[in-house]
Amino acid sequence: DLSGNHFSAAANKKSSVPPSQSLVYMDLSQCGINGFFPELLKTQQRLRTLDISNNKIKGLVPGWLWMLPNLENLELSNNTFTGFERPPSKHGLLLSHVRNFLGSNNNFTGEIPSFICALRSLSILDLSRNNFNGSIPLCFGNLKSSLSVLNLRHNRLHGGLPENILGNLRSLDVGHNHLTGKLPRSLSSPLEILNVESNGINDTFPFWLSCLTNLQVLVLRSNAFHGPIHQASFPKLRIIDISRNHFSGYLPTGYFVKWSAMSSLGTNREDRSKVNYMDVKYMGDEVDYGYYHDSVVLMNRGLEMELVTILKIYTTLDFSGNELEGEIPKSIGLLKEIRVLNLSNNGFTGRIPSSLGNLTALESLDVSRNKLSGEIPQELGSLSYLAYMNFSHNQLVGPVPGGTQFGTQNCTSFEDNKGLFGPSLDEACRDVHAPASHKEDYETTETEGEEEEVVSWIAAAIGSVPGIVLGLTIGYVLTSHRPEWFVNPFGRKSRRSRSTTT
Ligand SMILES: *[C@@H]1O[C@H](CO)[C@@H](O)[C@H](O)[C@H]1NC(C)=O
Ligand SMILES: *[C@@H]1O[C@H](CO)[C@@H](O)[C@H](O)[C@H]1NC(C)=O
Ligand SMILES: *[C@@H]1O[C@H](CO)[C@@H](O)[C@H](O)[C@H]1NC(C)=O
Ligand SMILES: *[C@@H]1O[C@H](CO)[C@@H](O)[C@H](O)[C@H]1NC(C)=O
Ligand SMILES: *[C@@H]1O[C@H](CO)[C@@H](O)[C@H](O)[C@H]1NC(C)=O
Ligand SMILES: *[C@@H]1O[C@H](CO)[C@@H](O)[C@H](O)[C@H]1NC(C)=O
Repeated sequence: DLSGNHFSAAANKKSSVPPSQSLVYMDLSQCGINGFFPELLKTQQRLRTLDISNNKIKGLVPGWLWMLPNLENLELSNNTFTGFERPPSKHGLLLSHVRNFLGSNNNFTGEIPSFICALRSLSILDLSRNNFNGSIPLCFGNLKSSLSVLNLRHNRLHGGLPENILGNLRSLDVGHNHLTGKLPRSLSSPLEILNVESNGINDTFPFWLSCLTNLQVLVLRSNAFHGPIHQASFPKLRIIDISRNHFSGYLPTGYFVKWSAMSSLGTNREDRSKVNYMDVKYMGDEVDYGYYHDSVVLMNRGLEMELVTILKIYTTLDFSGNELEGEIPKSIGLLKEIRVLNLSNNGFTGRIPSSLGNLTALESLDVSRNKLSGEIPQELGSLSYLAYMNFSHNQLVGPVPGGTQFGTQNCTSFEDNKGLFGPSLDEACRDVHAPASHKEDYETTETEGEEEEVVSWIAAAIGSVPGIVLGLTIGYVLTSHRPEWFVNPFGRKSRRSRSTTT
């Protein structure tokens, strides 16, 4: 393990071949290696794990690499490779035993090479953040018994998703491509994560997914999905983002009754309060996915957040930007674990259900741009983690609930309603409409009291787990754009992140 050192020139010289050819594990990541693929590796017949990620290696990935008979773990991500040399093969057969191949964030262009379908042991394939074009090879179906993670996010892939692609996949991410057509159906897949965001998929709501009892994350954001979404039930689903599509129709009152995971994550709060910074960061350990980390990028308050390790405990529901109508189902109050709820930009009518007051973990609530009427339920005033809310562009009337959170909102969160009023609204809009001078003395003393309250509320939030986790979420965005660690074949953990999280 020479990772994090600098020996750019030496890596390419024959004279620097390690004395033995019996290395089984080699980590040359973040060594500032530029130039072409280190030829010296060609003779390392026993090599099982090779990590040359985070360098500036260019050119083609050599064909002989796939002839190293023991190679299982191959990490090439964050380099500037442009393509693959065709591996020598006998009758289209490759003897390679590569199981985990991570090649994200390179400059790979052209079509995804079909020899990948001959890697019959392949379990994790990550080719995200490249310039692959053409379509997803149909022969990926050949890998269906071994492949468990497929990540092709951020490429330029066209065409449809192959019908038999789901196979044994646990995680499929094809977000940010140009895919069209429909979602492939599979009624017996161990799928946990499905992310097809930002494509041109034109399909109705995949009700059949509720047969997939392991499904935890579903992201259909920004596609051409359409039609009704009533009658769905998802026992394990924790993250659902179907925003910016054309879903329509109403949701029955009991809509969320069978969404058990969002009602209770199974871990009690006691346990979660013991989760400290390190535990959260290395949570992947528990589930033994080892090498690769699932991640999902979600929107919150106009910012992209990349969830990596806290993915296991995050709960969010985003139905925004559709054509949903009718009342917001009262059963939404059952989803007690939910942190982020976005129903904005729809045609919801009627009152905001007071059952929302039961969502004690809620940190962000956006119901803006609907046709909601009646009052804002006073129950929302007691949600102590609710740091962001937006009620603007509705037909709401009556007093804005008390509680410090309401007073600290941005004034635009209440604009364009029929008749909202009250001290909290005045507080929120204080900077916008300067208070009348004759009330100033009275308001000064009141404001001091409220500021103290704000400070103690922030202190309370910092001292409690959801507050920390939200902080972590945001901190994590800043540092999470490359794998933080991986487990080598001996199970030893090596940490390679040199960035710090504040
Ligand atoms: C894919 O990219 C290659 C290289 O940039 C280009 O030559 C080819 O025309 C592209 N093919 C398609 C179908 O866009
Ligand atoms: C989706 O496909 C239908 C036909 O099946 C078509 O009428 C509709 O315009 C398509 N929607 C989009 C956004 O492409
Ligand atoms: C809610 O969704 C809308 C539309 O998708 C988006 O513009 C808005 O920023 C989201 N609200 C929050 C609080 O993330
Ligand atoms: C909130 O939850 C409690 C207990 O779980 C329940 O009795 C009550 O009816 C709920 N309130 C609403 C408004 O749903
Ligand atoms: C309130 O929100 C608007 C729009 O999101 C933003 O432009 C403005 O700066 C915010 N004002 C304050 C005081 O934060
Ligand atoms: C509230 O939502 C409206 C419309 O969706 C948006 O224009 C405004 O900036 C939002 N306010 C804040 C503080 O995010």
